[in-house]
Amino acid sequence: MLTQEQNMALTQVGQGTPMGSFMRRYWIPAVKLEEIVEPGGAPVRVRLLGENLVAFRDPSGACGLINEICPHRGASLAYGRNEVGGLRCLYHGWKMGATGQVLETPPEPDHVTFARKLCVPAYPVREAGGLLWTYMGPKDLEPPFPKFPWLDLPPDQLLVVKMYQDNNYLQGLEGDLDPAHPNYLHRDFDLTDEASWSGVGWQSMAVLMSDGSPDIQCEETPYLMRVGAIRKASDPKLRYVRSTEWIAPFYCYIATGPHESRLFKGWHPIDDFSCYTFYIHFDMERPLDVEAIYSNWGHRTAPPDYKTVHSNANMHLQDRDRMKRGNFSGVNGASIQDRAVQESMGPIIDRTQEHLGTSDKAVIYFRRLMLRKLKEMEDGLPLPSHDPSLDYNHRAGSFDMPADQPWQEVVKWQEAFENNRPLAAE
Ligand code: FES
Ligand SMILES: [Fe+2]
Repeated sequence: MLTQEQNMALTQVGQGTPMGSFMRRYWIPAVKLEEIVEPGGAPVRVRLLGENLVAFRDPSGACGLINEICPHRGASLAYGRNEVGGLRCLYHGWKMGATGQVLETPPEPDHVTFARKLCVPAYPVREAGGLLWTYMGPKDLEPPFPKFPWLDLPPDQLLVVKMYQDNNYLQGLEGDLDPAHPNYLHRDFDLTDEASWSGVGWQSMAVLMSDGSPDIQCEETPYLMRVGAIRKASDPKLRYVRSTEWIAPFYCYIATGPHESRLFKGWHPIDDFSCYTFYIHFDMERPLDVEAIYSNWGHRTAPPDYKTVHSNANMHLQDRDRMKRGNFSGVNGASIQDRAVQESMGPIIDRTQEHLGTSDKAVIYFRRLMLRKLKEMEDGLPLPSHDPSLDYNHRAGSFDMPADQPWQEVVKWQEAFENNRPLAAE
């Protein structure tokens, strides 16, 4: 349970708010590159951390992300002409460059120069891994660009999914922090079905269903934190460990088993009340089965709004007949199941009214850790993930490992198994 002030500190993302300031200290996704493919094509509106921006790729191929509103009299630059070096407002022809500088003000006589000293908010951008990334914080505090290994994969080994969610980002993020919920919310698969979790190569989802009350362990890391969910295994000398790696400000790797495709998740807080979830599916070794992934997760979306047909208003198309036939949630697809419960809480849940239990240990740990990090930021201390020597070489494990070995070493045991060099417990 949080106080109202703590809930606000963790959920508000606008300029000058504690969490909004924390998020602005990191490189974060702004749009998918597919939204601005064509040089000189239509600019796109981007609402990010409560700011209204416009992203564009100019005719020379360079990208920009600047304030949506023209500094002259406020017309939207999303309507603007996309020219080499910047956007030209339709109303009176002012031109703004990718740095936000006002470059031209054609209706003004040459001797009237005040407007050319103006600069609209604009943020640096980088293209990587199918995304346009941006840094919205103070210029002198720009952190190193995160070296996620999936950024450089060929297109057939990477699937970047963007999905609109009608709730505050933290409700979604806390779902990923909650190792016990899959046993209930996602308990809808049939192991004999080709389209089941096993059918698409996520056998580990089947294994975790055997124990709905995992022992949850958390620890702080230089990136942010690590969560372990420890379940009984059929062999008493083993225990089944799933680990999740968290990277500030809002990224994580979800646990996946030996030779399974992997999943990185991130967020794009639109404002305090809505967000986009990014599912980055990738495989370091082989092409992905994209159709199987869409089928199991149910998160196929498209520009411009990246919404699915599901919403609170239509109860996420929950099928009560299917529930009578044995399906737990009656909601189709793991992503939609997550969204159904997270959107059902309303835009921002009142965390003063919760009753947290043992299974919420990672949620509690994250909130305490983040509130401490917000204080450390205020005190000017170094922030997680900012150390330039960090290698970003994460992997989240899902493996039956010896019960007497540290759970934090699950990836070591899993990789040895994958490489046909099983380790022996010392
Ligand atoms: S409002 Fe944009 S140029 Fe006048
Ligand atoms: Fe989930």
